[in-house]
Amino acid sequence: MSLKKKICVVGSGNWGSTIAKIVGHNVVKYNEQFESQVSMWVFEEMIDGKKLTEIINETHENVKYLPNHKLPTNVIAIPDVVEAAKDADILIFVIPHQFITRICEQLVGNIKATAFGLSLIKGFLPVPGGGIELISHAINKKLNIPIAVLMGANLAPEVADEKFCETTIGAASLENGNVLRDIIQTEYFRVVVVNDVEAVEMCGALKNIVACGAGFVDGLGYGDNTKAAVIRLGLMEMIKFAELFYPGSKLSTFFESCGVADLITTCYGGRNRRVSEAFVKSKKSIAELEKEMLNGQQLQGPATAEEVNFMLKAKGIEDKFPLFTAIHRICLGELSPEQMVDCIRNHPEHM
Ligand SMILES: NC(=O)c1ccc[n+]([C@@H]2O[C@H](COP(=O)([O-])OP(=O)(O)OC[C@H]3O[C@@H](n4cnc5c(N)ncnc54)[C@H](O)[C@@H]3O)[C@@H](O)[C@H]2O)c1
Repeated sequence: MSLKKKICVVGSGNWGSTIAKIVGHNVVKYNEQFESQVSMWVFEEMIDGKKLTEIINETHENVKYLPNHKLPTNVIAIPDVVEAAKDADILIFVIPHQFITRICEQLVGNIKATAFGLSLIKGFLPVPGGGIELISHAINKKLNIPIAVLMGANLAPEVADEKFCETTIGAASLENGNVLRDIIQTEYFRVVVVNDVEAVEMCGALKNIVACGAGFVDGLGYGDNTKAAVIRLGLMEMIKFAELFYPGSKLSTFFESCGVADLITTCYGGRNRRVSEAFVKSKKSIAELEKEMLNGQQLQGPATAEEVNFMLKAKGIEDKFPLFTAIHRICLGELSPEQMVDCIRNHPEHM
């Protein structure tokens, strides 16, 4: 029996393919620790009459989600998630959050009992009847394996171009965290492991709300000073939210790549900012813009804002999170984007 660990990347979007590229190279580098073949689950799609999995396995390029980047030849695209994950010792979950429940349901009873996972998924899972669940908790509950998380200032196209950046792995077990660091870390992608899993994950979800706010002020024609105020107040609300709903979160985690760094990059470069700017300028709905601008990708900020708002409303504390609340109401069309600037001006931080 091989002691080498086998890895499966569950997902193959823009980020999923970028990570598969890194993992494919690293398993060769650490060939005493890991099996050389990496399986990558691909949601099958037809591209110009041909299956995406076939295109990837023949050309080693995900022409839809990561065009113009070659994947290592040891990354094998597999359309059946059960087939892709069987025998895997490490499962890397990297799919848009709305698909994770269904994928986990397919995996129940079909993975190694000794496996552990890493979630790169940003966002929360809405709980039926209202509220949110951390995605790492949901995967752990369904599959009964430990789940670490990876979040950071990591816009996929830049990582795919091998431009230097940092990232944060949150792992309850340092041993698993160190194995995961070996799989993920490269010269251009530096990993810091911390044990504050929930705070790392929360940063990754909440920053998308703030990015919508940054996009609104960009769309209104305000400058970098205004955006910096949105970022600062957004960070304060992120920290406050974590303290309230996940007591024990460490303040220091917010100063890792998953915290302030990811917040900054998302408020300047991410898709939530871009679509939110277009929302103000074009007056189209978020749903229309998603279709027009995102080529099958989805926006997480507005959905996360809605889920967070449910939590705040349930506790009667919307007024303590005026930025999160205003952003949610702007996405719904209940407030005009201009009113966000009033909300910043009148933020309790300024009273
Ligand atoms: N893209 C980034 O820069 C980036 C960076 C860090 C984290 N993330 C996070 O990683 C996760 C995955 O993002 P991504 O950029 O790889 O994906 P993406 O946004 O490119 O989404 C497309 C993916 O969804 C899959 N898909 C489409 N319809 C599906 C369906 N019905 N069922 C299952 N899968 C379906 C597609 O096959 C593709 O893999 C997200 O949570 C995202 O927030 C993304």
